[in-house]
Amino acid sequence: MGCFSVVLRTLSWFCLVGSVVGIGANWGTQLSHPLEPNIVVRMLRDNGFQKVKLFDADPPTMKALGKSGLEVMVGIPNDMLATMATSVKAAEKWVSKNVSSYISNNGVNIRYVAVGNEPFLETYNGSFLRTTFPALQNVQGALIKAGLSSLVKATVPLNADVYQSSSGVPSGGDFRTDIHDLMLAIVKFLSDNGAPFTVNIYPFISLYSDSSFPVDYAFFDTNSATITDGGTAYTNMFDANMDTLIWALKKNGFENLPIIVGEIGWPTDGDRNANLNYAQRFNQGFMTHILTGRGTPMRAGPIDAYLFSLIDEDEKSIAPGNFERHWGVFNYDGSAKYQLNLGTTNSGALIPAKNVRYLSQKWCVLKPQASLDDPGIADAVSYACANADCTSLGYGTSCGDLDARGNISYAFNSYFQKFNQFDSSCKFLNLSMITKANPSTGTCRFEIMIEFTLSDGGQRFMYSKLGIYCLVTVLLWLTFL
Ligand SMILES: *[C@@H]1O[C@H](CO)[C@@H](O)[C@H](O)[C@H]1NC(C)=O
Ligand SMILES: *[C@@H]1O[C@H](CO)[C@@H](O)[C@H](O)[C@H]1NC(C)=O
Ligand SMILES: *[C@@H]1O[C@H](CO)[C@@H](O)[C@H](O)[C@H]1NC(C)=O
Ligand SMILES: *[C@@H]1O[C@H](CO)[C@@H](O)[C@H](O)[C@H]1NC(C)=O
Repeated sequence: MGCFSVVLRTLSWFCLVGSVVGIGANWGTQLSHPLEPNIVVRMLRDNGFQKVKLFDADPPTMKALGKSGLEVMVGIPNDMLATMATSVKAAEKWVSKNVSSYISNNGVNIRYVAVGNEPFLETYNGSFLRTTFPALQNVQGALIKAGLSSLVKATVPLNADVYQSSSGVPSGGDFRTDIHDLMLAIVKFLSDNGAPFTVNIYPFISLYSDSSFPVDYAFFDTNSATITDGGTAYTNMFDANMDTLIWALKKNGFENLPIIVGEIGWPTDGDRNANLNYAQRFNQGFMTHILTGRGTPMRAGPIDAYLFSLIDEDEKSIAPGNFERHWGVFNYDGSAKYQLNLGTTNSGALIPAKNVRYLSQKWCVLKPQASLDDPGIADAVSYACANADCTSLGYGTSCGDLDARGNISYAFNSYFQKFNQFDSSCKFLNLSMITKANPSTGTCRFEIMIEFTLSDGGQRFMYSKLGIYCLVTVLLWLTFL
């Protein structure tokens, strides 16, 4: 009997692993101090990620992905959609420069082009409604012309707000009424070209924007149904949301269109619901859910997904909320934030980035002798926070328990680190000083920044400067001869 159960367990393990299409990660680069692309690619591979989704086609990133084996989704930013929509030539140039050449010259395994990023988001007020579909058509045309259309698929990552349910349950799903015809045209085009529908699903945002949202329903670990749809019980919002999309597709005749979950994840800071516990609970729950290979009630089978996000980005816009800079499974320096078993490593734990170089162990803080009534403090703090990152301050955040002096020090230090610990970046009137005593407390980390590495462009700039110095030296030398 013991033997039988071992065999059974081994078999079920194979079934589990065998049905997985592999997990992907979103790699955004809106950081003041991005890790070197080679370090990130190594980290992706060490952690068993099989796919990576980008938001553009930054040359150093693309080169680092060459021969990595990772499947790549390259992105066309929203601000390029108008150009792509109006000019076939521009689309062809983009595909030639940012797809064809990386495939043939660098061995980058490009499989998808993301045309825009959530272009129909309601907050964009319809700015990209007229350009997205023509841009998709032109990019697809360019892929065909380049002979790549069977290898590389063009898709549009859309927010889940492009569909809704009038009845509140998945079977009521259909595309948003204001963009219904447009969505149908896009869906038909994707289907005709064998391309997937890409959707970003965020239970965190539901919880953030609706305080009466049932918290447990955002996660994957409850057995009680929050929604019952006909005979189907839904215990987590992700399944219900996916099925709302599948119903919308089905209703319009595209029931079998493949779906990619372009972004899914949970932030760790910047809001009372954004913390390590919830992020761990959500991401581990999601991984365990997709590792079963069962799919959702409406569509059995593996789920193709990209976690959002790989690394925190300290320069993302915080218009949607302070949590925006904290979506990473890894911190800015490639250290792991919490225990997460992706089902891909022997240890069952995240593997941090290797060969990361830090600045010195020093911090900028408020001078002990400075008075909280000092009239310069308010301006100094606003200046520091406007130019650096204070999103870990505030109610329910990792540094929410700091006292007033701690708050000010945190702001000063954030600025000091972001500006590479230059002495001049710890000169807030006469209020600040540099210390070697780590001011971190409890959950609140006063960071040490990593070394700033020159991007490809920077190196070229250095070389050209070097070239001019050499030329001047030679000229001077010739003059003296
Ligand atoms: C290729 O992508 C980069 C990065 O997104 C962009 O700056 C550049 O304009 C693109 N090249 C062409 C020819 O469109
Ligand atoms: C959308 O419209 C609102 C209200 O008119 C405005 O506040 C916001 O800045 C607009 N957003 C964009 C992206 O145009
Ligand atoms: C900073 O300078 C102001 C104005 O000169 C003074 O009132 C204050 O006491 C000084 N604070 C410290 C900490 O030296
Ligand atoms: C610290 O800063 C945050 C964010 O600016 C603020 O909400 C909080 O009230 C401050 N705490 C203290 C004790 O000053």
